[in-house]
Amino acid sequence: MCGIVGYIGKRNVVDVLIKGLETLEYRGYDSAGIAVNSDNEIKVYKKIGKLINLKNLLEEKKNEINNVTMGIGHIRWATHGGATDINAHPHTCTCGKLVVVHNGIIENFKELKEDLIKKGCVFRSQTDTETIAHLFAHEYGKTHDLTLAVKKGLEQIKGAYAICVMHKDEPDKIIASRKNAPLVIGVGEGENFIGSDIPAFIEYTKKAIYLEDGEIAVVKENSLEFFDANLNKIEKKIEQLPWEPVALSKLGFKHFMLKEIHEQPDVIRNVLNGKLFDIDEPIVLDEVKIDKESLKNLNRIEIIACGTSLHAAMVGKFLIEDFTGIAVDVEASSEYIYRKTVTNDKTLVIGVSQSGETADTITAIRQAKDKGAHVLIITNRPDSSMARYADSLIPVSAGIEISVAATKSYTAQVLSFYLLAIKLAEIKGTLSPEYMKNLKHELIQVPVKIEEILNNKEQIKKVAKKFANFRNFIFIARGINLPTALEGALKLKEISYINATGYSAGELKHGPIAMLDETMPVLSIMIPGGVTYDKILSNSEEAKARNARLIALTSSKDENLKDIFEDVITIPEIPEMLSPIVANVPCQLLAYYIAEFLGKDVDQPRNLAKSVTVE
Ligand code: F6R
Repeated sequence: MCGIVGYIGKRNVVDVLIKGLETLEYRGYDSAGIAVNSDNEIKVYKKIGKLINLKNLLEEKKNEINNVTMGIGHIRWATHGGATDINAHPHTCTCGKLVVVHNGIIENFKELKEDLIKKGCVFRSQTDTETIAHLFAHEYGKTHDLTLAVKKGLEQIKGAYAICVMHKDEPDKIIASRKNAPLVIGVGEGENFIGSDIPAFIEYTKKAIYLEDGEIAVVKENSLEFFDANLNKIEKKIEQLPWEPVALSKLGFKHFMLKEIHEQPDVIRNVLNGKLFDIDEPIVLDEVKIDKESLKNLNRIEIIACGTSLHAAMVGKFLIEDFTGIAVDVEASSEYIYRKTVTNDKTLVIGVSQSGETADTITAIRQAKDKGAHVLIITNRPDSSMARYADSLIPVSAGIEISVAATKSYTAQVLSFYLLAIKLAEIKGTLSPEYMKNLKHELIQVPVKIEEILNNKEQIKKVAKKFANFRNFIFIARGINLPTALEGALKLKEISYINATGYSAGELKHGPIAMLDETMPVLSIMIPGGVTYDKILSNSEEAKARNARLIALTSSKDENLKDIFEDVITIPEIPEMLSPIVANVPCQLLAYYIAEFLGKDVDQPRNLAKSVTVE
C-alpha cells in the first residue's frame, strides 16, 4: 500500500527520498511523487506508474532542483480517485506553499472539501488527501504557525492518517503525525528521517522513534520535538532497530520471494530458539500471559486474520482443538467486524498478521478488546500497531518480508500455532508427555526436511513448466492440510493470475467436480499415516475418471501412485499432524516457478499491496 518517506539534512535530499521509496516499493503502488524545498520554493514532481517514471521526470527537471534542504516522498495505492499523475501525492494547497503526503483514508473529506471550496480553495485532484493540504493551509492563514495549523486541522479530520507536511515559509521543519497508520522517525546526527516503515531509512540510521496515535512530531535538521494531540510537549524513547540493511537485499536470488522461501529453515530455527529448548522442557512463550486460572475461565477462542494469515489461523484452529479440546472459531477480519459477535470476557481472541497493520484485523482486535476479550497477537512486526493492542504477544521472528506474496511469515505463523497449541495443552494437561515429546522432536526436525525439499527443487520446476500455461488449477486436501490447499491456491493465483482454487477433497463431488476435464490440473496433498490419505486417494481417482490432470504432493513412497498421478512431488516423511509446515513449501515453489515461467512480476504482483491499511 502507500508509503511515506521524509528527510531533512545535508545529504542529497532527492537521492534519499528516491532510495527510501525504492525500499517501500514492495508494498505495492501505482504512482509516486516527491516534494522538495528547493531555492526556498516548494516544488512537486509526481508520476503515475513505477518509480522509474518519477526518476525520469526528475532527470528531465534536474536543472530546476537546486539548494534542496528537505523533502517528502510518497508511493500511492489508489483509493479515492484513479491512478493518475494528478492524484499522485504530494498534494499542495491552492497557493502551493503547503504540501502534504498521506497514508490512510479521510472519512469526512467530502464535507471538509465542500466547506473549503466555499472558502475559495481550488481543488485539482479527486483525492481525500488534497483536502488535508487545503485544511492545514486554511488554518495556517489564521495562525502562521505550521505546528498549530496541523494540530487544528487534525482536530477536524475523521479517519486514518500518517502524514508529513512542509510549508515554504517554515523551511526548517517537517511536521509528522499519525492515527491508525504507522509512522516512524529515523534519528540521525545533523539529519533526521521519517518513514511509514523502517526500510525507508535503515541504510542511514538504526535509531528510531515510533509515533503513537495522535502524536505530532516537529522534525528539524538538528532537533526533534514531540507533542500530544493538544500540543503538550512529550518525551519519546529512542529504540534501537534490530535490522541490518542487508535484510533488504536479494542476496543473489532472482526474486525476494525465492530468497524468502529459502530462508524458511533458518526462520524455523530462529522461531524455535528460546521457545523450545528440549523435548523434555515446556514451551517458553514469554509474552503470552495465559495461565491455568485464566484458561479455566475461557470458554472459546476466536482467531481473526486475513489472506495468508487466515490460512495459518485455520491450521491453528485444528491444532488447538486437537491438543486442548477448546472450541476455536476462525473468521476473516473483514467479516468479523460487520456483525454482532458473541465475543466477551471469556473469549481469547487471537489476531494473526504478518504486518500488524492490516486495517480490518486492527478494527476487529479493537472491537474484541472493547468486549473484554484477552487479545493475543501473532505478528512478524512486534513494533506494529496491532502489537500495541496485545495483552499477549507471539512475535514470529521471520525477519522482514519484502515479496508481496507471504511465504516465510506463513511458515513462522504456522509454527507459532504449534508452539501455542502445545503450550496450552501443557497448561491444561490434555496431552500425554510421550505425545508431546514426540511433537517437539518432530518440530526440531522440520528445518532439515524443508532443506531437503529446497535441495530437490527440480521435480517441482518440471511440474511448473508442464502446467504453466493452464488457465485453471485445483488444490485438494482434507483435515489439517485443507489450509495448505487453500494457501497453495492463493499463492498461485496472486503471483501467476491463474484461476486457482483450494477445496476440501471431500467437497469435490458436491459441485466443483463439474469443472473437471483434461484442461484442469488437480494437485492432491496427501500425507500417509493419518486418517485422510486413503480418502484423498479415492477423491483423486474420482477426478481422474473425469480426465483431470493429476499431480500428487506426498511423502508416500508407493510406486503405484504413478499409475494414478501424472506427476508425483515427493516430500520427506512427516506425521500428518506436523505436515502443513512442510507440505506448504513445494506449493510455494510451484507458484513461484509457474509465475517465473510466465514472466510475471513475482515480487510485486499487479493490484496487490503488502500491507492492506484500508478496510
Ligand atoms: C498473500 C498475502 C495476503 C496477506 C493479507 C494479510 O500472500 O500476503 O493475503 O496475508 O493481506 O496481511 P497481514 O498478514 O499483514 O495481516
